[in-house]
Amino acid sequence: MLERRQRGGPGRPQSGGGDGDDGNPLSAPGQPAAMSIELESEEHEKCREAGEILAEVRDEAAERVAVGASHLELAEWAEDRIRELGGEPAFPVNISIDEEAAHATPSVDDEETFGEEMINLDIGVHVDGWLADTAVTVDLSGNSDLAEAPAEALDAALDVIEPGVETGEIGAVIEEVIDGYGYNPVVNLTGHGLGHWEQHTTPNIPNRSVSQGTELEVGDHVAIEPFATDGGGKVREGNDEEIFALEREGSVRDRTARQALEQITEEFKTLPFATRWLDSSRASMALRRLQRNDIVHGYPVLKEEDGCLVSQKEHTIIVTEDGCEVTTRSR
Ligand code: CO
Repeated sequence: MLERRQRGGPGRPQSGGGDGDDGNPLSAPGQPAAMSIELESEEHEKCREAGEILAEVRDEAAERVAVGASHLELAEWAEDRIRELGGEPAFPVNISIDEEAAHATPSVDDEETFGEEMINLDIGVHVDGWLADTAVTVDLSGNSDLAEAPAEALDAALDVIEPGVETGEIGAVIEEVIDGYGYNPVVNLTGHGLGHWEQHTTPNIPNRSVSQGTELEVGDHVAIEPFATDGGGKVREGNDEEIFALEREGSVRDRTARQALEQITEEFKTLPFATRWLDSSRASMALRRLQRNDIVHGYPVLKEEDGCLVSQKEHTIIVTEDGCEVTTRSR
């Protein structure tokens, strides 16, 4: 999953692209700073545990995607399975279809089922706030090479990761592979660092060659997530919002909104959550109030600008002395 909004700023697309090609994709004002994982520490072990749970759930969830299967049942199955295995969902299961790149998740009464479509599953797990983030495309649309492109780009990116590698170089490798398939990378979506209880920190990992970059160091904990499309290569924000996160502490007078805020602060902290995760029977109304007061912010569904298909693959890694450890690798 990605961050598309700068904290504290108006709800406009973040760095990583934004609307123009001129923005520096590697600095997002207000983005929490990267934190380094001390190798072989307790926190490293928790990141590994989160990754191991997540790899299993991702692979099982992908198996369950079939024409006629319910979006809501799949999302709830995966979120429950994460808890059964000893983790917590780090964010709602994203089920993004065709031109949707990310941030779609079923509503509480969702009745949608899968058709002959391109389906992006993006799933996260945390163990005591230590995160893992992964995504895979399941293609039921007959465009298997489009689904393959970001997967091969990710493998190529993982091959060049070692201490000292520039994030711009990772982006160049991703762009080259996707270009080789005859598709475009989505240039205004990026990989990202993962912090403690922070789903998105610096550095951003671009999906194209950029001149400004930062060097990865031992202990850096990052999600690499190439996106490919048969369209122009940019996404924009749609109107639907089912995923939200706490923006800042605050208080509201309305009782329903106050109760929702209590649940958010205690259970989800700063991690993204779904409307359907709230206990309130008037969750949407409560969220609108909290959003109006800038206490929570939404993640609008991201759609390819030209309405073209988008595919994705994502792994979480920790940079080691001689390369990287992929915490979300299939076992
Ligand atoms: Co991510």
